[in-house]
Amino acid sequence: MTRSFPADFLWGTATSAHQTEGDNTNADFWVEEHVEGSPYVERSGDAIDHFRRYRDDIALLAGLGLKSYRFSIEWARVEPREGEFSEQALAHYRDVVDTCLAHGLEPFVTLHHFSSPRWLMGLGGWHGERTPALFARYVEAVMRRMDGRVRRVVTLNECNIGVLLRSLFQKLAFVPPVGVDVASWKAPGWRTAAAAECGTTLERYCNFKMAGDEKGVATIAAAHRAAREAIRRVAPGVQVGLSLALSQVQALPGGEANAAQAWYGNFQQWLPVIAGDDFFGLQNYTREIYGPAGQSAPPAEAERTQMGYEFAPESLGAVARAVARETALPILVTENGIATDDDARRVAFIDRALAGLHAAIDDGVPVIGYTYWSAFDNFEWVFGYAKRFGLVAVDRATQQRLVKPSAHHYAAIVQANAVPEGAEAQPQPGPARALPAGVRFTPPKAPPAVVFANVQVFDGSGAPSFAGEVRVEGNRIVAVARASEGAGVPREGARVVDGAGATVMPGLVEGHAHLTWPTSVEKFVPGMQLPPEELAITAVRNARILLDHGFTSAYSAGALSKRLEIVLRDQIESGGVPGPRLIPSSVEREPPSDGSFIDAGEVDEHGVGPDNVRAFVKGCADIGARAVKFLLSGESALKAGASLEVLYTDEEIRAAGEQAQASDVWLTGHAHASEAIKMGVRHGFRVLYHCTYADEEALDMLEAARDRIFVGPSIGIIQATLDADPPPHFDMTHMKQDAAIVLERQKALVPELRRRGIRLVPGGDYGFPFNPHGRNARDLALWVEHFGYTPAEALHAATALGGEIMGRGDELGRIAPGYLADLLLVDGDPTADVAILQDKQRLKAIMKDGRFHKAPEAQQ
Ligand code: BGC
Repeated sequence: MTRSFPADFLWGTATSAHQTEGDNTNADFWVEEHVEGSPYVERSGDAIDHFRRYRDDIALLAGLGLKSYRFSIEWARVEPREGEFSEQALAHYRDVVDTCLAHGLEPFVTLHHFSSPRWLMGLGGWHGERTPALFARYVEAVMRRMDGRVRRVVTLNECNIGVLLRSLFQKLAFVPPVGVDVASWKAPGWRTAAAAECGTTLERYCNFKMAGDEKGVATIAAAHRAAREAIRRVAPGVQVGLSLALSQVQALPGGEANAAQAWYGNFQQWLPVIAGDDFFGLQNYTREIYGPAGQSAPPAEAERTQMGYEFAPESLGAVARAVARETALPILVTENGIATDDDARRVAFIDRALAGLHAAIDDGVPVIGYTYWSAFDNFEWVFGYAKRFGLVAVDRATQQRLVKPSAHHYAAIVQANAVPEGAEAQPQPGPARALPAGVRFTPPKAPPAVVFANVQVFDGSGAPSFAGEVRVEGNRIVAVARASEGAGVPREGARVVDGAGATVMPGLVEGHAHLTWPTSVEKFVPGMQLPPEELAITAVRNARILLDHGFTSAYSAGALSKRLEIVLRDQIESGGVPGPRLIPSSVEREPPSDGSFIDAGEVDEHGVGPDNVRAFVKGCADIGARAVKFLLSGESALKAGASLEVLYTDEEIRAAGEQAQASDVWLTGHAHASEAIKMGVRHGFRVLYHCTYADEEALDMLEAARDRIFVGPSIGIIQATLDADPPPHFDMTHMKQDAAIVLERQKALVPELRRRGIRLVPGGDYGFPFNPHGRNARDLALWVEHFGYTPAEALHAATALGGEIMGRGDELGRIAPGYLADLLLVDGDPTADVAILQDKQRLKAIMKDGRFHKAPEAQQ
């Protein structure tokens, strides 16, 4: 019995511009390939020279009898500089289309296939507010030029690639669909360089494959809609769709919720975006299996492809069925294929995939075409040229094309328009099964908009508060109004909180946090060391305590465990644990101590010598620390005179600096001694604490580095030492003497640093038995008392400058439209009396990332 496909079934094969054309020098991916430390195993270079050889290549594909050729147009070529369109590039692509038509191949155009112009990164990339409109403008220019010659377009290839990679790097359980070398990808010094090369910073760098968060998805969705609208306007009649990478999703017993979440992220969340499209572009390569702990490896007996994926051709039919259950759009398989050097496995893959697809069509799934990826062996992104998906091999030394047997096999299928004789879908190995009906992931509901009305607004800038209103939508502040200007903020759909004259201000930033230092206002711990279980839970508790006291961000100054803060940060970010935004730090080396007062805990040392220090920094970066802490000087509080000792050689700290740059982590230093400060500045430290004995030269160096450096005087611990009233068996005499000296010096030092324009941030080493977490806001009052700050100036340091130390000065620490909604509603006026912030009862509401950690009491 012949198993025929529908009469007008669109048979084709595909490529993308960056992977085949060569010399795509203006694209972000080109930059990533070329920067130092790039994880790309090789560069795309002249690729397979398709930009020049397209005529022969198209003739070759047509000669095989295929019906369509899917290729992409390179935005970076068409619009090499923002707003400047290249006539030459447009003419080129028009000719590609014409060549297809001349050979009887339907040109199937992808308008964006992963790579973007590098200038787009400077405008925020796929987080940029203007990106949807810029994309639509480019699409319009292309479509006008195509002048009715193209029947179908994919706006954006694999809109969910960022979602996929993001969940991959969160779980790191598996091999990603585009093939990423995980180790080098995670050591992202190269990314800083790529960002700079594209005219942006690491924090703002967001290319297409990185846009998997809420903002990225929203930007891509808006770009698709804007492009579709432009196409409908300038090229009516063209069928528009997007494509998604969809593995077949299966669950092991207990893994249903994880599987449902993956399916939601990759597919269901896009349903509103494709509503209104003409077709759905399905790209499938394998299946994904989810267990209770997340994605799990394929069954041991399963065959793997060159990409490391399970050889699972039956996934195609299964995923087409799953898609058809949720959308009525016609399904066009825009990619399906296998990377292998064994061409017979390619033949088997195609046969079995098509057998499964045909069975789905038989059961009513509306599949209208199939596109094999790829026409040619080509540049497989990070993996370079070694992963061979092509029907046609390319000898890159000569650029000769060699048609593989699988190409002839596929061509015969196309001719017959039927599943080949004997091709059968096979049962998939292992116990994993499709999701049972009814299991569905429910995404957390976006909180309703909130309007704070009848409030005084302290916006973080240091300017006086003003009467006004603030509106929050999602996790951002969207509007701020001044009563003096008459109008309020819009109130549609918002919960209105009547502040009754209370102050709204940005959440506080603790600039010197040690969440693993155990003591808090809730629990006294008479020492520093805890067994691992207590340590972990105590750190979690301390994170919550900080947030309870209005600290919505914390910059860690070191931890008593290697990974704890990193894990804690992830738990906080995923919403599972209340706590501040956290810059997690490395383990802190045990400071020299005479043991008389406090045992500072036994912490792995990293050994001596530049190589050990280098390895330590790299090790911290590899496990996900954002900051690495060094005790550049000792600490007199723990050992008499130690503050004036420098604990490292210059070579060691140079090595730390170099490695930090390569691994893209920040360096943080405990530095009392002048020479320790200088060493830190010399070797690129970003944060230096104490700086007590800075001499003139150190001050000059700090001043010269003021654009990149922050200083934390850490006065909280000093005052706490002076105030402490320890039990008789704790002799703090010597500590108190030292604290008195430090306080006197800092009273002169801090105003001088400030005069020189150096950014100073509050934060006071809380967590010692006599300086508990939860008392953090006391720093602000101490700044007023000892350093000559006004309350508003101290608040500016703890909010706006706090946002800067967190590396997010453009979106954190102020009240202004676009800023993250980390807000406090304070009963009273902290700009008159900053001490009120020490009373958590005065915090009527605490909002972090647009959600109430402490909601204001319901109003009548
Ligand atoms: C992409 C292609 C890629 C292919 C194989 C898809 O994710 O669209 O560019 O080469 O998969 O990994």
